[in-house]
Amino acid sequence: MFPLQRNRRLRTNESIRSLVRETSISPQDFMCPMFIAEGKNVKKEVPSMPGVYRQSLDGTVKEVKELWDLGIKAVNLYTKVSENLKDNTGKEAWNKDGLMQQTIRAIKDAVPEMIVMPDVALDPYSIYGHDGIIENGQIVNDATNDALTRMSISHAEAGADFVAPSDMMDGRILAIRNGLEESGFHNVGIMSYSAKYASAFYGPFRDALDSAPKDSKVKVPKNKKTYQMDYANRTEAIKEAIHDVEEGADIVMVKPGLCYLDIVREVKNAVNVPVAVYQVSGEYAMIKAASEKGWIDHDAVILEQLTAIKRAGASLISTYFAKYAAKLIS
Ligand code: PBG
Repeated sequence: MFPLQRNRRLRTNESIRSLVRETSISPQDFMCPMFIAEGKNVKKEVPSMPGVYRQSLDGTVKEVKELWDLGIKAVNLYTKVSENLKDNTGKEAWNKDGLMQQTIRAIKDAVPEMIVMPDVALDPYSIYGHDGIIENGQIVNDATNDALTRMSISHAEAGADFVAPSDMMDGRILAIRNGLEESGFHNVGIMSYSAKYASAFYGPFRDALDSAPKDSKVKVPKNKKTYQMDYANRTEAIKEAIHDVEEGADIVMVKPGLCYLDIVREVKNAVNVPVAVYQVSGEYAMIKAASEKGWIDHDAVILEQLTAIKRAGASLISTYFAKYAAKLIS
């Protein structure tokens, strides 16, 4: 081989490196997660996520326009509603004039081509901070699916392009797909959080929405491990993704990102639909914290991680860096 093969030849300068580069990222790879707050002129930074805000509708719509102008084509929406709207059934989630429904309408009015993907899960509406309804100290699967279906239909009625169930109940994709079909929403897609792990990296997100599982007088599970996946498992992720495609998912997601790139590649090889990855709040917070200390190069690390996620097999990346990274690479 050597000296006939000198691998460094293709690394000699930036021109040849760019010619042989296998992976590139662009703004249309990104989806931008957004936290929606009640009220007017509200814009509060999430303490554990510098540069990320909980915003009321006015500011959100303005920001969606900026995102669109930067070439970003999708937003993932998460709402934070007041405690008095929460209960065990999560019924505020399908209020046709609820915060999410208003937000979807406002965004579709202002930027009709933006793909709007509301989060479908009960936790922001649950007094217990769980993604499902609780009976006798357990998260009940099938009753939760009914709630998620109603929630999805109400999002579709408000104008959502996709719904994005992030709850990890069994059979929810089938339930939601059937519900959408029966209501005539044949073209509303489903991006399923298929392989969603019970991860410690969601901490800052739960701060943002105040949605962590809570202590309460009735017995409720302290964590989400009876529905989100065990991070030690690999084959289960493939099974989840395949089931979701069979049940009607248009896009499957792996979440979190960086610690799960092996799963991303395997899911990519196992299914014939686009794979999305969520670079989650804790991953964002780590980059912010380490770079604030001057220990890592903020911009370089962002580009490296996003490229690695794409290289692993992601067609879409949900990232809190969407806007920033779009500016960096344009
Ligand atoms: C809740 C939901 C969570 C995230 C997205 N949807 C948190 C959780 O499961 O507790 C986490 C996203 C992030 O950490 O950025 N259904």
